[in-house]
Amino acid sequence: MKILVTGGAGYIGSHMVLLLKKSGHEVVVLDNLSNGHRESILDTTFVPGDIGDRPLLDRLMSENRFDAVMHFASFIQVGESVTSPTKYYNNNVSRTLVLLDAMIDAGVKKFIFSSTAAIFGIPSRTPIDESHPKYPVNPYGRTKLFVEEILADYGQAYGLKSVALRYFNAAGADPDGRTGERHHPETHLIPLILKAASGERDFITVYGRDYDTPDGTCIRDYIHVIDLCEAHLLALMHLESGGDSISYNLGNGQGFSVLEVIAAAERVTQKSIRVETGERRAGDPPRLVADSRMIKRDLGWAPCYPDIDTIIRHAWQFESKMFPGR
Ligand SMILES: NC(=O)c1ccc[n+]([C@@H]2O[C@H](COP(=O)([O-])OP(=O)(O)OC[C@H]3O[C@@H](n4cnc5c(N)ncnc54)[C@H](O)[C@@H]3O)[C@@H](O)[C@H]2O)c1
Repeated sequence: MKILVTGGAGYIGSHMVLLLKKSGHEVVVLDNLSNGHRESILDTTFVPGDIGDRPLLDRLMSENRFDAVMHFASFIQVGESVTSPTKYYNNNVSRTLVLLDAMIDAGVKKFIFSSTAAIFGIPSRTPIDESHPKYPVNPYGRTKLFVEEILADYGQAYGLKSVALRYFNAAGADPDGRTGERHHPETHLIPLILKAASGERDFITVYGRDYDTPDGTCIRDYIHVIDLCEAHLLALMHLESGGDSISYNLGNGQGFSVLEVIAAAERVTQKSIRVETGERRAGDPPRLVADSRMIKRDLGWAPCYPDIDTIIRHAWQFESKMFPGR
């Protein structure tokens, strides 16, 4: 198949590009490099540009007969979405609409969407399954929920078939070290811990040690980026074989506390990591763990790298390659 990957130069998108090519698909990456890295996608066909640029999209879609679009492009920082909601609604919702309209007009009817656990807000029960109430507590989460709702309407009206995958915490890196996580600024726990291990940062801050969890720190579900990309491949096959639109929660199913992740990072890196304690952050629930039984049952998905040490080892390999000698 020929796939347009938006945001393909970013963290998750670049892993997807490598996996699609390994699986024999043809790939075109569209990315404005606001947060991505051109070198992450090696020699893949790259179109520098924005998903909100309708003339560019029309040209791209007339020059290529895309079978599907995988849509990773978006802004991703929860805190920034609270202080600059306009930036998030514009990029994540309005520009996604431009992309969807261009697809419909070009007759491209398969769409795989990067959604998020943030659409659920503060969980009323955990693990979180697909029927859990959806009350996002920040603009970032709302942008993703809005797009999920738009997809349902576009399915009804225009026959668009979509799979929304709600990732929990994507983590790890390509086991061969070709690409990895490089957000600027970095807000995700595992790369921050590894920067504390490598000396790029002095310490890691643990926000709150008095949560109702066994060691008092927050528990999160870390899914290996390769397992996440494998789920996209299965979603693509599902749509290709005529499957209906659907949304799935996607996580490892196991939660690890912040202190457990730090301990695993010390084991993997063989370095001691300085830890400081900070205040709880507003809106941080004690426990966020996915119930991914539905995608396992429907599509036969199963994580290959559920082990936290392996996830961290692959991330560390990449971090060490980026900053040799640290
Ligand atoms: N990283 C996670 O843990 C996580 C969890 C849940 C959901 N997600 C979702 O997965 C997707 C990918 O996340 P990521 O961590 O790889 O982020 P990322 O920032 O590394 O990648 C996003 C890419 O999109 C590009 N981009 C942004 N706006 C664009 C636009 N208007 N036009 C063209 N390109 C644009 C950026 O340059 C970047 O390369 C996002 O949609 C994010 O919301 C990520």
